[in-house]
Amino acid sequence: MCGIIGFVSSENTKAAVLIEGLKKLEYRGYDSCGIALVHNQEMALYKTKGKVKVLEDKLDKSLEGTSGLAHTRWATHGEPNDVNAHPHQIERVTLVHNGIIENSHELRKFYEMQGVTFKTETDTEVACAVLNDCMNKTNNKIEAIQKACTILKGSYAFGIFFDDELDKIYAIRKDSPLLLGEGKNIVFLASDCSAFLETTNRVLELNENEIAILDVTGITIIDEEGNEVKRESKEATLSLEEIQKDGYDTFLMKEIHEEPMVIKKTFHHYMKKSLTDLNDTMPSLKKYKRFVFVGCGSAYHAGMIAKTLMEQKARVISSTELASEFRYSNPILDDDTAVVFISQSGETADTLAALRMCNEKGIDTFAIVNVLGSSLAKEAKVFLPTLAGKEISVATTKAYCSQVAVLSLLCLKKAMEENKLSREEKLAIENEIERLPLLMKKYINQTSVEKIADTIQHHNHVFFLGRGLDYALSLEGSLKLKEISYIHSEAYAAGELKHGTISLIEKDTPVITCITNPDLVLKSISNTKEVETRGAKVFLLIREDLYSNLMDASAVILLPKVHDVLQGIVSILPYQLLAYTVAKKLGCDIDQPRNLAKSVTVE
Ligand code: AGP
Repeated sequence: MCGIIGFVSSENTKAAVLIEGLKKLEYRGYDSCGIALVHNQEMALYKTKGKVKVLEDKLDKSLEGTSGLAHTRWATHGEPNDVNAHPHQIERVTLVHNGIIENSHELRKFYEMQGVTFKTETDTEVACAVLNDCMNKTNNKIEAIQKACTILKGSYAFGIFFDDELDKIYAIRKDSPLLLGEGKNIVFLASDCSAFLETTNRVLELNENEIAILDVTGITIIDEEGNEVKRESKEATLSLEEIQKDGYDTFLMKEIHEEPMVIKKTFHHYMKKSLTDLNDTMPSLKKYKRFVFVGCGSAYHAGMIAKTLMEQKARVISSTELASEFRYSNPILDDDTAVVFISQSGETADTLAALRMCNEKGIDTFAIVNVLGSSLAKEAKVFLPTLAGKEISVATTKAYCSQVAVLSLLCLKKAMEENKLSREEKLAIENEIERLPLLMKKYINQTSVEKIADTIQHHNHVFFLGRGLDYALSLEGSLKLKEISYIHSEAYAAGELKHGTISLIEKDTPVITCITNPDLVLKSISNTKEVETRGAKVFLLIREDLYSNLMDASAVILLPKVHDVLQGIVSILPYQLLAYTVAKKLGCDIDQPRNLAKSVTVE
């Protein structure tokens, strides 16, 4: 979490290059922000609590410099305020940091005993003290950075100024992303290339523990042994259009509308003509007798759908695990188990740590990941991309959908290998996949969730009910609502509510039941009746062919009937639209909900 950008230019450059860059990185955190700008060999710091817009409004528009570092923060150590905002400075060193220094507490104590006075509560200021101390001892910048990095435990991407060389920026990273950009008369470093894409689309990777030096002559990369590395820049895979709202009021709405195209692209990537193509686009799954799906948040919910499908379609034992629990559970895994890691960012700390644990044990690991070149994508034995493109809104929509698509294909591949998929069913699924994007497009354009949203916006608690796959959908629907509208909600397996939680149902408590499985329709309706009897205001999200006026509801949203393997992809749409509509009515910051960040790179 946190986003950093820096530049060195041979000509005076407006501070706006940093401000615009920070705006692109705000999805990584937006508790506070700051810049260090060098003009005529003098450095000035500007820092504030709050979003980049607050800083922008405080700055003189004509401000310019020849080098600068900037940071947008997701607070870990120290509350979000002006003082704790980056950049941080101790004597010879000024730096910005993305990551977390795990031994900062001991180091802080040590340096306090040496007489250092810390002005902030941050772990980053401690890193400054360490680097400054190493610099005082060696007086060699590369050696000082390398030495400091042996002392600091945790994750970091640093952009560093030394006070005697303000026309140079040094950078290093470990377990946090950092890319370099080469433009005409200007070079950049940033957590993500979207930050400098308006100036250049030439990108260079920086490997772990390499040091980059940015100056007016360009970028020099030094490896761990101190040797210069020759590396050519490449064209960024991201385009400028992908990081613009394109007429939508929010990235979330834009990304919901991109779902049909994303689904088409993702399916097409794995199956050009038929499901048989999966033999070429995915590795053989024949040896696996068990699948474990691991993720956090929405990715975990996608894993729940995969578990259901793998067991129902392929009849292979499967489970879903929260990455943060799985990694500490000393799991029983063997050679015939495949552990499938699901992640949009490919950088989620717990998911990555869980993957590394499995890799160390020699277990086969799969990564279903959206960001190419991310750590999970690189470190898993098998990488299966989702093709959602850049997702900017903190709440995931299109990336989640494409995760479910890839997972469905994985389950279908296993089902085919186990001879559990008849020719007729295979054909039926292929036909459904073909018509899915258009169906989704129409559904997004025609579905109104206004009536439910009108009610929900006035409530503090909402319940979501469903059985089987509909339970997984309810969990994701509930997370979306909580995340962007700040309304508390709970998702329950419909049969479970009466074992305690039903005591929370009172007059007019909104309850949204999802019903897409014909075998469970009567059971789910009975559970919904149980809450209605106790005063709940009931809403139904029900597959169109299953709705038969069997039950009264304050509003009914019909879901299109598709093959059950694909139902999860379509049925999540009204939940996403509902969360958006409620959040909009409440005036919430939809793309950047409070306390959150897009990639959670801390444990
Ligand atoms: C969902 O809308 C979230 N923002 C969150 O739950 C997310 O899915 C989770 O943090 C996992 O992130 P990842 O997919 O990048 O690993």
